[in-house]
Amino acid sequence: MSVDTLRCRVCEAEYPAVASGSCARCFGPLEPVYDWDELARTVTRESIEAGPRTLWRYEALLPSTAPANITGGPGWTQLVSAPRLASAVGVGEVLLKLDHTNPTHSFKDRVVGVAAAKAAELGIETLACASTGNLGNAVAARAALGGMRSVVIYPNTVEPEKLLATAVYGGEMYAVRGTYDDCSRLIVELSGEVDWAFVNVNLRAYYAEGSKTLAFEIAEQLGWELPDAVIAPIASGSLFTKIWQGFEQFRRLGLVEGQAPRLYGGQAQGCAPVAHAFADDRPVSPVRPDTVAHSLAIGAPADGDLATATARASNGAIYAVPEEDVGPNMSLLAGTSGVFGETAAGVTVGALRAAAAAGEIGENDRVVVLVTGTGLKTPQLIEARVGREIEADVDELLEGLGVA
Ligand SMILES: Cc1ncc(COP(=O)(O)O)c(C=O)c1O
Ligand SMILES: [Zn+2]
Repeated sequence: MSVDTLRCRVCEAEYPAVASGSCARCFGPLEPVYDWDELARTVTRESIEAGPRTLWRYEALLPSTAPANITGGPGWTQLVSAPRLASAVGVGEVLLKLDHTNPTHSFKDRVVGVAAAKAAELGIETLACASTGNLGNAVAARAALGGMRSVVIYPNTVEPEKLLATAVYGGEMYAVRGTYDDCSRLIVELSGEVDWAFVNVNLRAYYAEGSKTLAFEIAEQLGWELPDAVIAPIASGSLFTKIWQGFEQFRRLGLVEGQAPRLYGGQAQGCAPVAHAFADDRPVSPVRPDTVAHSLAIGAPADGDLATATARASNGAIYAVPEEDVGPNMSLLAGTSGVFGETAAGVTVGALRAAAAAGEIGENDRVVVLVTGTGLKTPQLIEARVGREIEADVDELLEGLGVA
């Protein structure tokens, strides 16, 4: 559904729903304003269930109109049980949300799907972004699908697999000698020069809304019930704050009952400004990232303070996960559930383990773990596990297997 108004989440100033960045008064994040009375009258479980098997089944609760000419599309990823992971960490039930099965193998297809639909409504023909890796893939692919131009700016530390997964779509791309935060600054400066759709700058109010569909899907896939806890990775903090809003909106509309889930966030120790702010109960202060979890390497997170407030409001927490645990956590996830998540998933599983160790979640809890990206784009931490080469000789094989 198209919206007319954006409202500042901090000072509540209102603006027309065009491509604009943050609040001109206080720099706070802008959000679409919905007509909740109208939505309460028209949105039902049945109306949603009759929709497409993509995130556009929630079109009434999104700020853009579903593109008519594009089928398929992101979202409606599987929610699967992971009983062996649950017993490995000592939690009643673990469900994995397989968002690495989106078209470009990360949840970023959701946010880009909503932003690109808004760009089309506004008649903008170039999609651009600064990216830690996955966002650029989603932007380049979505632009290719819609016959648009795309421009992506990365820090030069991004994994080669992620660069390839942008290049293949014909996207224009630059690797910057600097951090993501340098790229973000460049993109903000560029957005003052050209009238493009910068998905996470001037379209951020729309883009961010894509993430709340993760919460909608989890509730719907649980048979219109809420889990006890959700574990998510944090970079800018947008995903984390939006899944909370998603659950709150479903409760407000009476689509689900009961308490909203506790939200637990994870950051890698080498870039954990939000986790440290949470632990010390203070505002986020920027850091210079030095982490193996490149997709989460944002040193100055735009929604960091909102993320700590969200963790508290939900009775959850945010954990810093040791760098040396990220690879083993990816292996734990894969080895107990058959799901190969990326470094961000290694961080998320680290937050799951930390919450279980702290007694925050336990045998009575149903916990959803978000797998937000695929491990095939971040193979570096697993390379050492690849088997050795042998001659085409059965004796050598039997010996290696310990059968001889
Ligand atoms: C795989 C993956 N998970 C999680 C995130 C975190 O998203 P956010 O910036 O909304 O916190 C990112 C961000 O790039 C990501 O690539
Ligand atoms: Zn404001």
